[in-house]
Amino acid sequence: MTIQNVTVVGAGVMGRGIAYVSALSGFNTTLVDVSEEQLDQAYQHAKRTSDKGIQIGKLTEQQQTELFNHFHTTTDLEGASAHCDLLIEAVPERRELKQRVLETADAHAPEHAILASNTSTISPTELGSFTERPDQVAVMHFFNPVHKMKLVEIVRGLETSDQTVEIIQAASEQMGKETVEVNEFPGFVTSRISALVGNEAFHMLQEGVATAEDIDKAIKLGLNYPMGPLELGDLVGLDARLNNLRYLHETLGEKYRPAPLLEQYVKAGRLGRKSGKGVYDYTEKDGLVKK
Ligand SMILES: NC(=O)c1ccc[n+]([C@@H]2O[C@H](COP(=O)([O-])OP(=O)(O)OC[C@H]3O[C@@H](n4cnc5c(N)ncnc54)[C@H](O)[C@@H]3O)[C@@H](O)[C@H]2O)c1
Repeated sequence: MTIQNVTVVGAGVMGRGIAYVSALSGFNTTLVDVSEEQLDQAYQHAKRTSDKGIQIGKLTEQQQTELFNHFHTTTDLEGASAHCDLLIEAVPERRELKQRVLETADAHAPEHAILASNTSTISPTELGSFTERPDQVAVMHFFNPVHKMKLVEIVRGLETSDQTVEIIQAASEQMGKETVEVNEFPGFVTSRISALVGNEAFHMLQEGVATAEDIDKAIKLGLNYPMGPLELGDLVGLDARLNNLRYLHETLGEKYRPAPLLEQYVKAGRLGRKSGKGVYDYTEKDGLVKK
């Protein structure tokens, strides 16, 4: 089966990024959200990102025109499911929400369609059990910002077929990504390591080991990470980071207990870039303003 029509559900940070790379790679892409405002913002994001691509010589105007020929938005999940070959859900990390989306998609998508999830933690076996086609369900885990990050982590559930994995691999490659195949285990490879490093950085901040800037600088320059763990937490969203840690704590044990300072920041509404303030303050125009 060749994939032509891709439906992405959820137009937040991840869904809009996935829809952007999908449309840019020539897939006829439909982005679905319950909120018109989110869809509008996703469109603006695609415009800004492609404009910037043209400015720096990575994209031509012709490619931008084709991108928008392939980029559609709707609030109608049933209709968008009916024509897809591959559906990628990127709604918030709540089981009951993902279940509802997958059940609807399963009821309306063509028989051959693959239903993938961008979940960071939820079991693909469980996601498959929400559908009548568990062999055609897998996790397709993208990273933020999607147009820059090279990896798609493919996680197979108990029933996921080899053919499903092969098709997802091919679609990811067409989107310009490299893939790794991971067996189901809480946190996969990347979420598990990232949660642990991010949590440790919060413990250090709380203990006064160093300032946030120096913790990030030490990890970047000393360990050759492209971003510090605290900056990365602000980018990912501290609420998302906390949710992942809570889940890993529940499933893998004590070493994943969320740092109290992280809990406190989330309680205060300091969620990172998206709320204007996290570990750092983003309320001034030019991005990162040090505390
Ligand atoms: N943020 C990250 O860095 C990151 C990285 C990898 C994976 N993920 C995973 O990706 C998924 C999405 O995360 P996000 O950060 O993009 O979330 P987000 O909160 O930014 O966006 C979620 C979007 O889903 C929409 N939505 C909610 N219910 C819906 C429904 N029933 N139908 C259609 N749309 C609906 C919301 O309106 C919102 O626009 C989660 O599973 C998360 O764990 C996130």
